[in-house]
Amino acid sequence: MNILITGGAGYIGSHVVKLLGQTTQHNIIVLDNLSTGFQHAILYGKLVICDLSIIKEVEKIFQHNNFDIIIHFAASIDVSESLSNPLKYYENNTLNSINLIKMALKYKVKKFIFSSTAAVYGNSKKMFVNENDDTQPLNPYGWSKLMTERILMDMVGDTQDFEYIILRYFNVAGASADGKLGSYNKNATHLINMATKVVVGELEEMFVFGNTYNTKDGTCIRDYIHIDDLASAHLKAVEYSGSGIFNCGYGQGYSVKEVIETMKKVSGKDFKINIVGKRIGDIEAIVADNKKILTKMQWHPQYNDLDFICKSSLDWYKKQCAM
Ligand code: UFG
Repeated sequence: MNILITGGAGYIGSHVVKLLGQTTQHNIIVLDNLSTGFQHAILYGKLVICDLSIIKEVEKIFQHNNFDIIIHFAASIDVSESLSNPLKYYENNTLNSINLIKMALKYKVKKFIFSSTAAVYGNSKKMFVNENDDTQPLNPYGWSKLMTERILMDMVGDTQDFEYIILRYFNVAGASADGKLGSYNKNATHLINMATKVVVGELEEMFVFGNTYNTKDGTCIRDYIHIDDLASAHLKAVEYSGSGIFNCGYGQGYSVKEVIETMKKVSGKDFKINIVGKRIGDIEAIVADNKKILTKMQWHPQYNDLDFICKSSLDWYKKQCAM
């Protein structure tokens, strides 16, 4: 099959390109503007450097390729930036997606796999969320993704031969188990990235945003999913027949303190932590109810192991620092 992968030079996209390249014969075309991605992260397929907002250029790619599937990663993903510059998110994430969906319909692409986020759930009343639970994003980033979800779902009624798969990612972390890929984004501010930077000495200390939440130790709870398992969920989505929304997480929650303790353990290094005020817009506790993806897609995650997630992140970062 011919697969178009937008944002394939980014952290998640590049891992999916690698897995598809290693395990399938599909023909891969990556479309990326390289604004946050890296050409050297694309280990398979062909790269076309192009911005999704330049519709004429995008259309040329469709004219020259007979795509069967689109996997759409390209997006802006910084929650705090989405609060200060919401239009950037509605343009990059919603408007560009509309244009891509239009192109998909015009050129009769049969399947559209969309990168969504657990941020669409907002502050759910329960810790374990399933795909039918209410969605109420807390920021424009979450809304921009939720709107695209809705648009995709509305397309199916009109068109016979169009399927969508919406993957709602929980907290993606770590680097590939074979050591070939990881995150090249040195500015990432996610919890495991920050802890990694403290261990390697790039930061002196780290901050914990609040310890008075109504959780086991007062810090927020998240479901951390290893990047290789998230990539394998995409492989399942490529093979799956039908449309639907699927949570991508392990169904296991860890607190911020537990993640930090794990990083200290696997690195053998103690480091300083400062408890500071709560971060605006943080969800108290959110964990995937992942029954749907486990049963319907027969997804078999292999790295549900916080030690390994932290260690792979650390090993990758050390390797980058040494280069
Ligand atoms: N945190 C700290 N200190 C830090 C960084 C993070 O205490 O230096 C805390 C946060 O307050 C939060 C937890 O660690 O409680 C996780 O924060 P991240 O920034 O790593 O990730 P988020 O949960 O905020 O967001 C991520 C993605 C979203 C996605 C969400 C789903 O960025 O796109 O996970 O749970 F929707």
